[in-house]
This record gives sequence, C-alpha cells and structure tokens, in this order.
Amino acid sequence: MNNMGIEIIDLKTDKKKEKIIKIIEWDDKTATKNEHEHFMIKEILEQPEIIKKASLQDNEKLMKMAIGILRSKQVIITACGSSRYAALIGRYLFSKIGEKFCDVVMSSEFGYFGESIDKNTLIIAVSQSGETADVLEGLKQAKENGAEIYSIVNVADSTIARMSDEVLYLNCGPEIGIAATKSFLAQIIIFYVLAFAMDNKIEYANKKLMKISDLIKNDIADTIKTTKKIAKATKEQRDFFYIGRGINFAVASEGALKLKELSYIHAEGMPAGELKHGTIALIEDKSPVVAINPNDYTYLETLSNAEETKSRGAQIIGISDKESNVYDHHIKIAKVDEIFYPIMCIIPEQLLAYYLALECGKNPDRPRNLAKSVTVK
Ligand code: AGP
Repeated sequence: MNNMGIEIIDLKTDKKKEKIIKIIEWDDKTATKNEHEHFMIKEILEQPEIIKKASLQDNEKLMKMAIGILRSKQVIITACGSSRYAALIGRYLFSKIGEKFCDVVMSSEFGYFGESIDKNTLIIAVSQSGETADVLEGLKQAKENGAEIYSIVNVADSTIARMSDEVLYLNCGPEIGIAATKSFLAQIIIFYVLAFAMDNKIEYANKKLMKISDLIKNDIADTIKTTKKIAKATKEQRDFFYIGRGINFAVASEGALKLKELSYIHAEGMPAGELKHGTIALIEDKSPVVAINPNDYTYLETLSNAEETKSRGAQIIGISDKESNVYDHHIKIAKVDEIFYPIMCIIPEQLLAYYLALECGKNPDRPRNLAKSVTVK
C-alpha cells in the first residue's frame, strides 16, 4: 500500500507491485465542456490564458536548454501532424532569434536518416500526448546512436518525457478535442521562449507574450463573427488553398490540416512562392485561397501571389492586420511586432475550421478515422 491508499496487484502472479504514484495537477474543470457546445471551441477560447501559462517556464532550465541547442553540432526537431507544424515554426524562430539553423524531420521518416544521427546530434521531440509511436521509434534509434534528447510535451510522465534528458511541459491542461488547438499554440509559445533564451531575452519575451494574450482576448469575439460569416459563404467549396511565406508557410500548413480533419474538405498548405510551380492549375472560379499575410517581411510577395490566384477566379481570405482590396474576406488581426505574428494568425484559422465543420454538419470533437494519440506505426 502506498501513501495514497492505492494497491496495485499483478493479476497473473497475484503479487503486489510497487509503483510510484505521481499526481498530475489537472483539475476536472479542464476536462468538461462547461457551457460550450464542443470541447474544441472551449479549448480555442482558453488560448489567451494558455499563452501566459505556457510561457512561464523555469528560466534556469530554459537557459540550460538554449545553451545546449546553441552548442550542438546538429539539431533536429522531430514530430508528427500539428506538432510538426509547431516544430516548423520553431525552426524559423531558432534561426531568426537564436541564429541557429536546425532541421525538422517528420517522425514517420526519421528512421530513414539513422546513419546521420550520432552523439553530436541533439534531437528535440515535440508531442502533445508524449506517446506517438512514430516519435517514440525515432527517439529510440537516436538514443541508441548516442544522441541527446530534449522534448516539448503536454502529458507529464509520458513515455517521451521519460526518455528525454530535458523536458519542457506545455502547461495547457488536458486537451480533449481530437484536433490540436491549445496544445499547438502552447508548443509555439515554448519555441518562442526557447528561441529568446538563446538571445538571453526571456524577460522581454514574457512581457511581449502577456500583451499578446490580452490583444487576442480583446479581439476574439470579432474573429468569431468574421469566421462564422466566411464559413457560411464558402461551405460549398471542396478545395481550399492556404498560402504563406517564411514562417507563415508553417502557419498555413496547420490551417489546412485543421480544415481537412474537421470538415473533410480538401485543403493544401503551401509556400506561396510554390503555387506557380503547379498548384495554380487547380484554381477555379471561387476557389478559396487563405493568405496568411500579416504586415511582415513576407507581406508584399504573398499579396502578389494571392492576386495571381484572384485573377484566375479565386476568392481570397486574407488573415492580416492590413486591409487590402485583394481580399474578398478579411480576418483582421491586431498589429504586433513582426516576429509574433504567427501567434495572431492561429486562432482565426482554428475558428474558420471549426465553423466550416459546423456548416458542413460535422462534429468537430469526433472527426472520423482519427485518434487523439496515434500509438501504432
Ligand atoms: C492534430 O490536430 C492532430 N490531431 C494530429 O496531427 C496530432 O498533432 C499528431 O497525431 C501528433 O500527436 P502528438 O502531438 O500527440 O504527438
């Protein structure tokens, strides 16, 4: 009997087993829908608070990990699905803020790079569940090859967390919706603080993130109204194209994934510059093109790519802080320092996918064929 009064018995041998019981600080409020129709909308609306919670990490640990990343000869981030798109955003942040190049390898392909992983490699695994089979498989192999493992996970004491030399937790509570929403944003926030730690600016990052959290909170009701309207106007369309350049390409990819998994509408996320190399052939009258187009270093070029599709009949949904007559629909975001724009674009994408799923008569909490944690290869 342990000090919680719990006894664990092995049913095969009938013998008692000694197990260490860990208490996870998740309250039941976070695991119920409360007044919301779906877990997904509840979890989307929690995000202003999640920004604050995820950004508050142990600074000493952050610095230690930032130094580890900077000193590593080769840094590879590995993840699946939405977590991989968070990793792609992280990759840009490491380069832009920490001036550290790293690569992102999707976990299902990771094993095929085994020969180039060794003791000079640092692997960063990103996973909400901490149990995704493909990620685990890659980590096992990397460990055997002598690599060091850091991870960014939500579920405390999960297998990935236990396999890691250092762990950062998302602090976003249980995510019940199958589609990643708050865990995705929390992963990004961790990449921000980690990247700013590389530049010795954790306090600066925290202050900025607190303000961003307030800005999002103020705007969320308007974003709901706008995305509901756009969902009504576009619900008949069967192919959506999400475009963005630089860091916004990763944001676009996540937007497309959310739409696919919730409403079963085909969607592609791509670097805006790649459109003319093939995909533009698919643009037809009224094809929705979602341009992730904040007023940053990518603005003009992305706008011009959006215009190219508009001249071929596309209807443009611009996610931006800047108005433009190129947009048929405009989801306005607040103006922030350039580096923080990805955080502003994510909630509009999630809401658009959520309302499109409802318009298409789908239950966003129960997307077909999908599991919250993919524990098989
Ligand atoms: C995202 O909405 C999906 N449910 C899925 O892509 C998910 O991100 C992926 O399976 C990875 O899961 P993990 O973060 O638990 O490893």
